[in-house]
Amino acid sequence: MQAAPEEEDHLAWAQERLAELGDRVSYANPFWYAGSFTIGLFAGIGGDRGNLGFVVETERQVEEHLTDHMDRLPPADARSRAIVAAMRDDEARHGAAAREAGAGELPLPVRALMRATAKLMTLTAYRF
Ligand SMILES: [Fe+2]
Repeated sequence: MQAAPEEEDHLAWAQERLAELGDRVSYANPFWYAGSFTIGLFAGIGGDRGNLGFVVETERQVEEHLTDHMDRLPPADARSRAIVAAMRDDEARHGAAAREAGAGELPLPVRALMRATAKLMTLTAYRF
């Protein structure tokens, strides 16, 4: 699976575009890296099916998040829109690949917790 290097590309694209726009990434970024790493460790406990299920759910939620961004980006900002659209395509493929590899469906409370965590991250990003 090509997912990991593609996620690194996404971070680089975002950083580059923010620099072009004279903006920066959130100060909370290092905490999210640490948090994501920890969550990844726990996801590993679920075995392959659970692990892949986590990937499927993450990609699904990220895809929704990016679609929401597309709706809110200025129509004239073609460059940002192209970047977000390319990310969304990649995420859709990552999710499909994980499903094909035998992902299991995560329990509802886990999915809800993931959604709550993501919400917290977005809210923090807008403020700091
Ligand atoms: Fe992805």
